[in-house]
Amino acid sequence: MKYLGNVVNAYKIIANDYLKPGMTVIDATCGNGNDALFLKQKITHSGRLYAIDIQNDAIESTRALLKTNGYDEDENLVLKQCSHETFDFLKSEEVDFIIYNLGYLPKGDKSIVTHFDTTLKSLNSAMYHLKHGGLIFILCYRGHEEGAEEFIHMNSFLANLSQSEFDVLKMAFTNQKNTPPLMWIVERK
Ligand SMILES: C[S@@+](CC[C@H](N)C(=O)[O-])C[C@H]1O[C@@H](n2cnc3c(N)ncnc32)[C@H](O)[C@@H]1O
Repeated sequence: MKYLGNVVNAYKIIANDYLKPGMTVIDATCGNGNDALFLKQKITHSGRLYAIDIQNDAIESTRALLKTNGYDEDENLVLKQCSHETFDFLKSEEVDFIIYNLGYLPKGDKSIVTHFDTTLKSLNSAMYHLKHGGLIFILCYRGHEEGAEEFIHMNSFLANLSQSEFDVLKMAFTNQKNTPPLMWIVERK
């Protein structure tokens, strides 16, 4: 496997360094459960993972993958089939880490895809459930119509976040052809 090669590898290198047992994290687009499993393995049984997806198939896939790897649903593994627009279920709980792996479910229904308007609503909510020092990762795939639109809106929104409250890092492979995926990391100060 390449060390870098794509944004998912790059995301994992940084997240691997940041995540610690006992942390509280959200996978805001859990899909097939790959990111959710990575998170749960890092935060371990003592850490709390909320895995969210709008699709029932995604929740079932995530549940099955986590169970196969020894993680049953309990108070520290919460799966929710809903849109990620609000995180009402958190009440006053604060989280260390949130990931958005945007777009559509690979090998799934490509018409069910993240949209800039709901992603922005979600981010607005997420930022204020984040602990000071917490991180949000946003992986964006620009190669399809909704993704290209989402990129434009996210780029503008994130570039204009208050510097006194947040740091925003944007990472992209500048020599890859066409429109390669890219990511932002938001740190709440
Ligand atoms: C690229 S996939 C995620 C991949 C996943 N993290 C994994 O490890 O397999 C994007 C997911 O976003 C989900 N999604 C789309 N709109 C959503 C919304 N409003 N709220 C929550 N999930 C949404 C889709 O159902 C899809 O499963």
